[in-house]
Amino acid sequence: MNIRAAVLEQFGQPLNVTEVELGEPRAGEVLVRLRACGVCHTDLYTASGADPSGYAPTVLGHEGAGVVERVGEGVASVVPGDQVVTLFSPQCRECVHCASPDTNLCLAIREQQNKGYLPDGTTRLSRAGEPIRHFMGTSTFAEYTVMPEIALARISPEADPERACLFACGLSTGLGAAINTAKVQAGSTCVVFGAGMVGLGAVAGCRLQGADRIIAVDLSQRRLELARGQGATDAWIAGPDTVQRILTETGGFGADYTFEATGLVSVMRQAVEAARMGWGLCTVVGVAGKGETLEVVPRLLITGRRVCGSSFGGVKGRDQVPELVQLYLGGRLDVDPFISHRIGLDEVNRGFELMERQDGIRSVITFD
Ligand SMILES: NC(=O)c1ccc[n+]([C@@H]2O[C@H](COP(=O)([O-])OP(=O)(O)OC[C@H]3O[C@@H](n4cnc5c(N)ncnc54)[C@H](O)[C@@H]3O)[C@@H](O)[C@H]2O)c1
Ligand SMILES: [Zn+2]
Ligand SMILES: [Zn+2]
Repeated sequence: MNIRAAVLEQFGQPLNVTEVELGEPRAGEVLVRLRACGVCHTDLYTASGADPSGYAPTVLGHEGAGVVERVGEGVASVVPGDQVVTLFSPQCRECVHCASPDTNLCLAIREQQNKGYLPDGTTRLSRAGEPIRHFMGTSTFAEYTVMPEIALARISPEADPERACLFACGLSTGLGAAINTAKVQAGSTCVVFGAGMVGLGAVAGCRLQGADRIIAVDLSQRRLELARGQGATDAWIAGPDTVQRILTETGGFGADYTFEATGLVSVMRQAVEAARMGWGLCTVVGVAGKGETLEVVPRLLITGRRVCGSSFGGVKGRDQVPELVQLYLGGRLDVDPFISHRIGLDEVNRGFELMERQDGIRSVITFD
């Protein structure tokens, strides 16, 4: 079938919204009609050419929500009409990592996905007979996409797709960092560095876990206000004295849990240094630039601080994204402040511009 899609033709150039061909879903694959898709930094990062593993041409987009249109042979977990969220981090439920409660890093299709292919090593996207590669296994800047069954989370039909698509990436990452990775305990003190989509999700996750004090740190007053809306008890403008301030306010010890959601190694270091002696846990969520390293004084670790990383918030997507969506449906999570602009697919490049200007948290492409 012919569909409209936003194609990255050349790095550093605006995306080209044009017609491409999409093949039928094969065994284990599903055709999804997109209803909404968030515009995320990772799309822009690849479009800019800064991502060393990027390739072109490809159809970008990974924060999708849509409806199952048709399924390929052997697909049993979704049927036409189901509402789904797309997962760049799949869950096969069979590999050694899926079998472990300690990680969400499914091993099933990583290699082909990273190269831009579906699990069988081919693409369903093409133009005039020339293959176009998939992006993050999702390619959701498009009216339709074909994806592996194991990369779709079936969610409540009640969920509004514009809100549901937020759970495909940043929001689940932040929530999961607090809920799954750090397992924040009730009554604790938490610090979240960065109040973008990910940091705001982490603030909400800390609140849902029953944290007593949640300190949000960012450079932007507007974003700090959003953090307050998600449950931050303190909102601080970031500065070189942030660590000292945290130590001072915690009897000299530091916070029980710290979260880094900026992608800056200097802030990661602050997050480690602000974690409590004895048991403080620093969860690194931001993605640093290629080749950058995190400097930590080892004594901080010997005296009981711990550092861990979190990919997609440790969320096992097919099991847990539907549960996270229920938080919003049940009124325990207000996602509306995250949707700042609704745009059409043709305006995807404006979505990038808004993001570069830090205008709002998420621009959401709607297709209906
Ligand atoms: N681990 C994962 O699976 C995963 C998934 C999605 C995104 N990410 C990463 O998470 C990070 C955050 O993503 P986002 O979408 O929220 O980005 P964002 O750019 O919207 O938010 C980052 C925030 O950090 C703030 N900031 C900048 N410098 C700061 C400083 N010195 N101290 C405190 N705050 C500062 C900015 O003002 C901004 O509000 C990025 O690095 C992104 O690549 C990781
Ligand atoms: Zn994303
Ligand atoms: Zn797996």
